[in-house]
Amino acid sequence: MGRFEGKVVAITGAAQGQGREHAVRFAREGADVVVSDLCGQIPCASPMGTAEGLAETVALVEETGRRAVSMTADVRDPEQMREMCAKGIEAFGAIDVLIANAGIGAYGPFAEMSDETWHEMIAINLGGVAHAVRAVVPHMLERGSGRIVCTSSEVGREGGPNNANYASAKWGVIGFVKSVAIELAPAGITVNALAPMSVATAMCHNPATYALFRPDLEDPEPGDVADAFGTLNPMAVPWLEPSDVADAALFLASDEAKFITGVCLDVAGGWNAFHAA
Ligand SMILES: NC(=O)c1ccc[n+]([C@@H]2O[C@H](COP(=O)([O-])OP(=O)(O)OC[C@H]3O[C@@H](n4cnc5c(N)ncnc54)[C@H](O)[C@@H]3O)[C@@H](O)[C@H]2O)c1
Repeated sequence: MGRFEGKVVAITGAAQGQGREHAVRFAREGADVVVSDLCGQIPCASPMGTAEGLAETVALVEETGRRAVSMTADVRDPEQMREMCAKGIEAFGAIDVLIANAGIGAYGPFAEMSDETWHEMIAINLGGVAHAVRAVVPHMLERGSGRIVCTSSEVGREGGPNNANYASAKWGVIGFVKSVAIELAPAGITVNALAPMSVATAMCHNPATYALFRPDLEDPEPGDVADAFGTLNPMAVPWLEPSDVADAALFLASDEAKFITGVCLDVAGGWNAFHAA
């Protein structure tokens, strides 16, 4: 029997990448899932999910024998987050776990950053997490239980060039998680963050990100950037697979983690050991 048999898990940003992997992994362990995504491209952002991608996630979940409901929903809109939760509760009776995963990558020197690139980043990578959490909390409070996992980043642990907007949002997620964890602990709800290093998804593997790592090359390929990525962590791994992050998300959402709340779990090949805390 899987660890999430009979549980319902809601996941934002599930049309590709880590969100899809979380959906499939929870389903393999017995959960039904509610998956959502914007299914559209924001001009300043790394390549985003599509309606076809979200349908593919649903198909992969159904292949495991579990059920999925999906919805096009924008994490920037609190009302759409409430609709996502309502849809899940209507379909499956409850939401036990929320994975607030949706995010964008959009980098560049701060002095040259457009207003749009700043605002979209904060609205999605920080505001979107808060909207998803706020949508599910009344339901979890009513039930007296719940598990919330919010995706931050190793860049939410430090500063970095070209990352003023991304680091601001991801540091913000950690402050948000710690604050809400304290508020919700008496109600039996845990709230934790994940801080992955680079992960092999569209956010990492795209020409704009490669150009940051190898500005000396005209058209860098994955093989040209792997060593540069690997210098960021002492295990010298260039990037994680989405399944490496899902392992940590499933743990934080599981019964084994019932007394763990308000933490930020680094999945980062030891990159975190360079940081002060
Ligand atoms: N890939 C990395 O290197 C890396 C490292 C650390 C943290 N992260 C974080 O992990 C999370 C998942 O990213 P990923 O690596 O799977 O990238 P990804 O681009 O493959 O997936 C992100 C998904 O979020 C969706 N999304 C973006 N804006 C949205 C919005 N406004 N409303 C709804 N959905 C929206 C996208 O359409 C996409 O499907 C993000 O929060 C990201 O910041 C990524």
